[in-house]
Amino acid sequence: MNDRVLVIDFGAQYAQLIARRVREAHVYSEIVPSSISADEVRALAPAAIILSGGPKSVYEVPAPLLDPEVYALAIPVLGICYGAQLMALQLGGEVAHTDAGEYGRTTLTRDGASALLGEWPTASTCWMSHGDTIATAPDGFVVTAASPGATVAVMEDPERRLFAVQFHPEVAHTERGQALLEHFLHQVAQMPSTWTNSSIIEDQVAAIRSQVGTEKVLCALSGGVDSAVAAALVTKAVGTQLTCVFVDTGLMRKDEGEQIEETFTRQFGVELIHVKAQDRFFDALAGVVDPERKRKIIGELFIREFEAVARELGAGGDGPRFLVQGTLYPDVIESGSGHAANIKSHHNVGGLPEDLSFDLVEPLRLLFKDEVRHVGEELGLPAEIVWRQPFPGPGLGVRIVGEVTRERAEILRNADYVVVDEIKKAGLYRELWQSFAVLPAVRTVGVMGDGRTYAYPIIIRAVTSDDAMTADWARLPYELIEKIANRLIREVDGVNRVALDVTSKPPGTIEWE
Ligand code: XMP
Repeated sequence: MNDRVLVIDFGAQYAQLIARRVREAHVYSEIVPSSISADEVRALAPAAIILSGGPKSVYEVPAPLLDPEVYALAIPVLGICYGAQLMALQLGGEVAHTDAGEYGRTTLTRDGASALLGEWPTASTCWMSHGDTIATAPDGFVVTAASPGATVAVMEDPERRLFAVQFHPEVAHTERGQALLEHFLHQVAQMPSTWTNSSIIEDQVAAIRSQVGTEKVLCALSGGVDSAVAAALVTKAVGTQLTCVFVDTGLMRKDEGEQIEETFTRQFGVELIHVKAQDRFFDALAGVVDPERKRKIIGELFIREFEAVARELGAGGDGPRFLVQGTLYPDVIESGSGHAANIKSHHNVGGLPEDLSFDLVEPLRLLFKDEVRHVGEELGLPAEIVWRQPFPGPGLGVRIVGEVTRERAEILRNADYVVVDEIKKAGLYRELWQSFAVLPAVRTVGVMGDGRTYAYPIIIRAVTSDDAMTADWARLPYELIEKIANRLIREVDGVNRVALDVTSKPPGTIEWE
């Protein structure tokens, strides 16, 4: 793939964001560590390079540097923030420590013709976050924009095809940020728009066909977005060779099993084994209150159920050789090796045993979550599946504090349905990272009609987040909370009180167990 952009990562949380923005411009991007050598870059033959921002000062020891020969490869380079300062320093310019730095929105003022900025207005808003600043641009560069805190906010050497911006074009607060990236990619680096949903699907379908040949493939569907889209891609590639397994643990959301069955069996015509394992899960969980024990029981039982199906399918000797995994690009980057060898346990609740030796098919390993959703839509998956909020592997089990019983799971499932239904009606479902109900292990006294009740409270948990590492509790409108509370008490048997969780993460976690 030589129409790719390399995003060289200097340790900012922005590298992934830059890579996503590049893909939104329909150009394939890949994140590589800053230790990459010029030879390695040459071997990858990117059509452009972007140097990300980073948390360090270029003068810190050790500060990540770039192999200086990268600048001489005649590949267009765009340095952003730390990447801009590094370019200035490594090519003979000066970077100065400033007392104040510049953080947040500021005004960018253009100066003269610019190959990078093209038709920008004289003044526009951009987002800055820097302590150091470029004091002198290297020889050969012209300065084409400044801000109150950065005399060199944009510098460029079109002949050597080197460009640098002190601000962050990848964040939404920079008015023309996406336009700048697009201009750099399409005009400066002359890259065509080749990265589209249909090209992703075509490429992956071809790759799956060549990997799998005529062998059989197995896929565990969890009800989540990733496994559904991965399965849909494999269906498109080798439909009749695929068997999907859906293990109903009794801890799924309302109608989840039916929806999976409807989509994959009736719409896609895939062979689906729907394992109705609820009883076995509730039996195994009886009397268990420790959160870690609960997780372990659910994970292990899931594996056993899955294993049983896999062994049965392989009983005649011509069982599936391949297993589909919904590994995403951020997992691949995090694993560092470029190979997601250590499959994250959350993809299949508890990970799969090693003696089930499958070869892995990972059709999503190049994709970010938002791309997975768009590909899913293009493949015809229903919006309810494609836009579903994340759901933990152990399901409702980590939202039922105390013992998990059939009755308590039913109360929570019905309550969860009401919370999500009202959030959707209010148009907030896609904005929120997660929104759900939690069932605590206490009961409280209430009155209903003439009678006294002694029933469970439900806790509404709704958070905003970018990556689940941190989260803020969502400021839901009072009217919405009121609607949810009224419906919970009216419609869900066993509930007589509603509370709202106003804990951020940290110190709380998103789930309750
Ligand atoms: P916490 O509760 O740790 O959750 O803030 C962070 C994110 O991870 C999800 N989560 C899990 N996902 N298996 C999973 O597949 C698990 O055991 C598990 N526990 C938490 C949670 O829903 C949130 O998105």
